Amino acid sequence: MHVIALSNQKGGCGKTTTAINLAASLASLGKRTLLMDLDPQAHASFGLGMRGDKVEASVYNVLTDQEGKRKYFLEDVIVPIETQLDLVPSHILLSTIEQEFTNKDESVSRLREALGSLSFPYQFVILDCPPSLGFLTFNALRAADTVIVPIELSSFSLMGVSKLLSMIELLRVKMQHTPKVYALPTMVDMRTRFSKHILGEIQRAFGENILSSPVRQTVVVRESQAKGRSLLSYDKKSKGAMDYLILSQEVLSKIANAPETQYENPRRFEPVPGSLRDFIFKTQGAREVHLVGDFNHWRISNDSLLWQKEEGLWQKKVFLEPGRHRYKFVIDGQWTTDPSNDRLEPNPYGGLDSIVEIE
Ligand SMILES: Nc1ncnc2c1ncn2[C@@H]1O[C@H](COP(=O)(O)OP(=O)(O)OP(=O)(O)O)[C@@H](O)[C@H]1O
Ligand SMILES: [Mg+2]
Repeated sequence: MHVIALSNQKGGCGKTTTAINLAASLASLGKRTLLMDLDPQAHASFGLGMRGDKVEASVYNVLTDQEGKRKYFLEDVIVPIETQLDLVPSHILLSTIEQEFTNKDESVSRLREALGSLSFPYQFVILDCPPSLGFLTFNALRAADTVIVPIELSSFSLMGVSKLLSMIELLRVKMQHTPKVYALPTMVDMRTRFSKHILGEIQRAFGENILSSPVRQTVVVRESQAKGRSLLSYDKKSKGAMDYLILSQEVLSKIANAPETQYENPRRFEPVPGSLRDFIFKTQGAREVHLVGDFNHWRISNDSLLWQKEEGLWQKKVFLEPGRHRYKFVIDGQWTTDPSNDRLEPNPYGGLDSIVEIE
């Protein structure tokens, strides 16, 4: 499994655009690819049509350290997008995650461990980092065997880049982890002279490690993102789709033979007995549907809310421990048993509860 992080502290240099379209291009070349959105702004998720209100569980639920919330494996939050391309969406909650960790040293390998616990392999994992050098970027750099640094040529500044390179150096010294780092010129405008001076500056920082398939500036990028599609699926003959296809071929030839990330000693999560169970409730015109039962102390709260997957179809995934559980749905204040489940039992209050049994 090759893990590639798109990182640069500078905002708007093409990290997300490259993450989406490199992932989609690799997938189109037959490589099984996973794109992980590690930016709380969730632009990569939006760019592939995953709007915030459609996201039930995100990479936050996988990385979180909060009591009772670490019930999700990476597999549980993966959303299929296109043939060979899957997405792990982001969520605004991710912006608070850094504060959850007190032991910073240990928390740096959180993402790497989650990737190591995947039970089915991807050939490529692409990580879209936020424009900052905090917990999320550090986790991405720790998990990555390759780092691509998109650099917008028109406003190149070496300052931001040198901080990123120092962070990578820190990983080498502290954890003997040395990802390979490449610069990628983005938003190249062929009409302005491709400045030798700037290229010289980039070479000073990156040596020979510059990807030589630059990404040109083109309006189709914004159009495809507004439609929630990759360039290849939006307009496969466009200049943008071509540029990213050529880039993905260069990436394949440069790094496909490089050593892959090995999980010598994968520290899987302790297996927790029990399983995730999907609850589904169909009702038209409801404003709010909750799921309550002995597993959440029959308490109505934000955590008991179902998510409206489509008009009239409500859904919630709950992790249940082995044993028998009693539950009910609450639709705009009205308590009811589960119409799709025949197993009912009387409760002490003279009513009935639905029953689910987990091995
Ligand atoms: N090749 C391109 N041609 C034209 N516009 C582009 C190109 N690449 C990116 N853009 C546009 O530039 C803006 C910034 O790009 P993008 O979101 O990929 O950058 P980013 O580095 O991920 O930003 P942030 O740091 O905020 O996460 C977006 O509006 C995007 O549509
Ligand atoms: Mg971005």
